[in-house]
Amino acid sequence: MKKLVVAGLCLGWAIVPCAVAAQVDDAALFEQGEQLYEAQCARCHGASGAGNPPAVPALSGNDALANAARIVRAVRQGTADMPPFPALTAAETASLAGYVRNAWTNDFGGVATGEVAALLDRFPEAGPMASVWDGVFTEAQAARGRRAYSGACALCHGRRLNGAPDDPDMRSTPPLARARFVREWEGSSLAALFAYTRLTMPEDNPRSLTDEEYVDVIAYMLSVGGMPAGNGELPHDSRTLAHIVMQPRP
Ligand code: HEC
Ligand code: HEC
Repeated sequence: MKKLVVAGLCLGWAIVPCAVAAQVDDAALFEQGEQLYEAQCARCHGASGAGNPPAVPALSGNDALANAARIVRAVRQGTADMPPFPALTAAETASLAGYVRNAWTNDFGGVATGEVAALLDRFPEAGPMASVWDGVFTEAQAARGRRAYSGACALCHGRRLNGAPDDPDMRSTPPLARARFVREWEGSSLAALFAYTRLTMPEDNPRSLTDEEYVDVIAYMLSVGGMPAGNGELPHDSRTLAHIVMQPRP
């Protein structure tokens, strides 16, 4: 593991020598960043940072990461194709930025939490977070999603969304509903699920549905998983979807 250079305070009264204390802090920060990366980013950018070209760029060996402010902005706000992560604190965002800048073959230096906090201050505060159990789609939307799913997804993910393809000669796929699916996505937002699905699915023809159809299919997936319908449709804008988190049944 590489040592991160993080601007920190070294207080005279510290029992551990200053340099050692800083290294311990840096290692803890790197580890926190690694855990967050595994949970929130690895699905798209890969555990080894290789990405999933051409849909998702590699972060390993990516010179754009020299610009720490750019990473912070991408994570907080999202981009055209990357979901935003509005709920991460400045400390979490700093640990993530520090991790991707120094993991794998990267060596771009650490990122100070204070610097990240100042950047994040320029964005409006994150809205309240909701869960997939809060009635975030409508019955009509799930019904539309069911039709889109049958045409575009069922062939591989199965009519029952359990990953058993209708054609027994085809390989099995991950389930798209119920406990195993929820565990797989627990803690991720619907913006991440929407972006991932849109960028990579159907596997043989990504981006072939409209944004409306992708969220309709997600509404259908949630309804099959037993999540309740509500009064408002699931929108296809990432900012809103980023505030709805996948959680196990309460
Ligand atoms: C759903 C897939 C997905 C997830 C999850 C995701 N990303 Fe990305 N990321 C992308 C895509 C796609 C791009 C290319 C962005 C574009 O072209 O709009 C990207 C671009 C980036 C960039 C480069 C931005 C630039 O300005 O060039 C960084 C840095 C980055 N991601 C970091 C992260 C981190 C850190 C996380 C986890 C907190 C993360 N990403 C999660 C898909 C994803
Ligand atoms: C040609 C077969 C195929 C089709 C069609 C297809 N998928 Fe997939 N899907 C896969 C495979 C294979 C994986 C596993 C990919 C991996 O792990 O890298 C997958 C993974 C996924 C995942 C991630 C599941 C998880 O928990 O890891 C989601 C979500 C998903 N597909 C949604 C969809 C949706 C929605 C559609 C229809 C719009 C669709 N897929 C159509 C083959 C397909």
